[in-house]
Order: sequence, then C-alpha cells, then structure tokens
Amino acid sequence: MGQGTPGGMNKQGFPGDRKPDGSDKKDKKFEPAAPPARVGRKQRKQKGSEAAARIPTVTPLTKCKLRLLKLERIKDYLLMEEEFVANQERLKPQEEKAEEDRSKVDDLRGSPMSVGNLEELIDENHAIVSSSVGPEYYVGILSFVDKDQLEPGCAILMHNKVLSVVGLLQDDVDPMVSVMKVEKAPLESYADIGGLDAQIQEIKEAVELPLTHPELYEDIGIKPPKGVILYGEPGTGKTLLAKAVANSTSATFLRVVGSELIQKYLGDGPKLVRELFRVADDLSPSIVFIDEIDAVGTKRYDAHSGGEREIQRTMLELLNQLDGFDSRGDVKVILATNRIESLDPALLRPGRIDRKIEFPLPDIKTRRRIFQIHTSRMTLADDVNLEEFVMTKDEFSGADIKAICTEAGLLALRERRMKVTHADFKKAKEKVMFKKKEGVPEGLYM
Ligand SMILES: Nc1ncnc2c1ncn2[C@@H]1O[C@H](COP(=O)(O)OP(=O)(O)OP(=O)(O)O)[C@@H](O)[C@H]1O
Ligand SMILES: [Mg+2]
Repeated sequence: MGQGTPGGMNKQGFPGDRKPDGSDKKDKKFEPAAPPARVGRKQRKQKGSEAAARIPTVTPLTKCKLRLLKLERIKDYLLMEEEFVANQERLKPQEEKAEEDRSKVDDLRGSPMSVGNLEELIDENHAIVSSSVGPEYYVGILSFVDKDQLEPGCAILMHNKVLSVVGLLQDDVDPMVSVMKVEKAPLESYADIGGLDAQIQEIKEAVELPLTHPELYEDIGIKPPKGVILYGEPGTGKTLLAKAVANSTSATFLRVVGSELIQKYLGDGPKLVRELFRVADDLSPSIVFIDEIDAVGTKRYDAHSGGEREIQRTMLELLNQLDGFDSRGDVKVILATNRIESLDPALLRPGRIDRKIEFPLPDIKTRRRIFQIHTSRMTLADDVNLEEFVMTKDEFSGADIKAICTEAGLLALRERRMKVTHADFKKAKEKVMFKKKEGVPEGLYM
C-alpha cells in the first residue's frame, strides 16, 4: 500500500498543484535508461485516475489498534505531503526571483562579449586587460566574477563596449586551436586514392600503427617515428592522403595550415604552436597535420624584418615541440609541402621528422586508377576510351586528371547532354594542358 497510495492522494488533495507532475517529468528526463522505474510509474498513473478519488481502504474494518495505527500512518503521509506542497509554493517565487536576477546579470554582462587577456590585476576591482585588437585598458571587474580564479594571463570575457571583465573562460585553450580540431571526418578514404600504395603503407606504419599498437614497437625495441613529411609536386595527393588518414583513424585529428601559424602580434605564433601541441597532448592519441609547412619552415638566414624573425621563432618553437622535451608519446605529426629542399634542415633531421615520403607524379598504372576513381560516378558514352589519356606522354598529376574529368563533365553539361563523350574528354584535356603550360591559374582571367 505504501508507495502507490500517497501519490494518488496527493493528486486528489491538491488538484491545482502541478509540482508532483513536474517532478515526475523530471524523473523521466534524468533517468531515461531505467525501464523498470518507468513501467512502475505508468502503472501508477493508470491507477491514479480512479484511485485518486478515495482514501485507501484500511483493512481491519472494526475499530482496533491496528486500524488506528494504519490510519495514523496515512495521516503522517498526508502531513508530509502538505508540507512538501507548502514548501514548493514558498520556494517557487524564489526561483522566479533567481531567474530575474540572472537576467539582470546577463543584462549587465551585455550579450555580445569579446574575448581578451588579463594582463595584470591592480586591486580587488580593477585590472589591466588587452583585447586581441591590440591596446591595453584599465577596466573594472564586475562583482559577480569569481576573483579567485582570475590570474594574469588567463582568457577573460569582456563587455563589448566598456570592456570591463564580466567573466572568465574556464578552459584557457586558445579558441583558434579548438577550431583546428577535425570534428567531422572528411569524406575521402583510402579507397579514393589511386595508386600511392607504398606511401599509404609508410604513413600507416609511421603514424597509425604506433598509436594503435605501441607494444609492437616496444617488442622490437625501436622508438616509433615522431612524424612524417609528405612532399612532392602540387596535386599529387598529399592533402588527400592526410584526409584519408583523418577519415580512418580514431585518434583526434588536428589540422593546421602553415600560414595560420603566422600571427599578427609578436609571440602569438609560437604561443599558438605551443597551444596546439598542448591540446594534442590533452586529447591524445592524436595526429597533428600541418599542411604547407613551407610557410613557416623555410631555411633560417639573416632575417632583416621583424616579421621574418617572428616566423623563424615560430619554427623554432615547432622544433622544440617536435623534440618533445616533455615526451609526447601519443602525438604524431604529419607535415606536407611542395618544396622540401627549401625547408630548414633542422626540421627534417632524424629524430624530429624521421620519415620523408615522396609523392611522385603518377605512372601509367596509377593514372589509370585515378581516371577510374574520378569517372566512376560519371555517365560515360560508349565511345569514351580513357586509355588514350592514360598512355599519353604529357605529365599529369592527380589533380590534373581530376580537372580533366570535371571539365569534360562541364562541357557535356553545356550542351545539355546526359552522357560525357570522348570528344569532351579530348577538349577538356587540351584545355587543362593549355592552362598548365601557360601557367595561368584556372579561373583567374575568365
Ligand atoms: N592519387 C590520387 N588519386 C585520386 N585522386 C587524386 C590523387 N592525387 C590527386 N588527386 C586529386 O587531386 C586533388 C588535389 O590533390 P591534393 O589536394 O592532395 O594535392 P596536394 O598534393 O596537396 O597539392 P599541393 O601540394 O598543391 O597542396 C585531390 O582532391 C584529388 O581529387
Ligand atoms: Mg595540399
């Protein structure tokens, strides 16, 4: 009798009160994974409508001690419920007040906020802050900011106009870095890569296997490589392979383009590199992919401008992170570049980047495969003979082949044909080769 009855009676006794229902809903929300509880509640509800109308039957009908005790117990229940409901009503206005207060605080805070840096705490209520725009300001700290957690150097939220400190970012990860995390795996997979089998194997050995089976390397007694560099002509599939790695790996994949590491303010570039590797370490096992590394990794020489020196400092930080004074077992680095010869030798020395994977222009077999991959989703007419293009003496990269296929498709589309013919491919090839020879980037002077 105990559990079911008082619930029912509550509904009867205080029909206007919505709280018990509300708490029921809450239960549902917080423990959706407990099916027995839900079944129980359902039953109670079904019973509730009729059972709510009466006080439960108390079994010995004659007046006796047992009946008295049972009735007293029911009374206790009712008293408890009354108290509960009274409490609910008393607390409700408080909740509303809290809500009001919260919205007031939100108003004070101002809704668009900017992110800044705390440079120095002056006293309880004042601080010097700098925003990403540059200059530093002496501003107030609003009272509701937790001052214990404020420390010089931490990231803070500032009011958009008066710049007073209105909050702090718990996680001091640079927002720039969190953008680099690849949340959604790219669509390209190993199956979309024509040829390049040796390259795929090398990158798997150097990057994926150490993360998934570190014990193998321990058994043999070698340290797995820290990273690899992919180099070769433009359009030979370096970025594509990195995407495929990102697609297939379960490790965290962080992606940066070299030029992103060049920042406007002194010290920001190296800081970003540090931050990047720290995040990679936090989220390990992880893979850091830096595309177009030549943006920061060129040879050191007597730099004349401050900007160049800053770029070099960024690279030195990169070297430092690769050396991993604090060992970074579970972070692998993939670099990609067109011009390996212009990179600083220090970056490439064994111990930092141990494996250099070259991406050559595709040979005949690979060309055939790439043509297959890119035409697999196209509707081709019967007269198309791709062999003719596969066997030509012209030098094609994978990207050229893709461009030819796309161009052929566009030509067919121009004439509203549903099928792509051999003539289309021929024209497309001429166009692509012509543009390549002229050195005019596609689409620049159209
Ligand atoms: N081996 C290949 N198999 C299939 N497609 C390829 C291959 N190589 C290149 N491609 C095609 O060429 C396009 C460009 O390749 P990718 O972006 O990987 O070049 P890249 O080597 O990174 O060039 P860059 O050095 O200029 O950055 C890819 O999107 C892909 O469609
Ligand atoms: Mg690339």
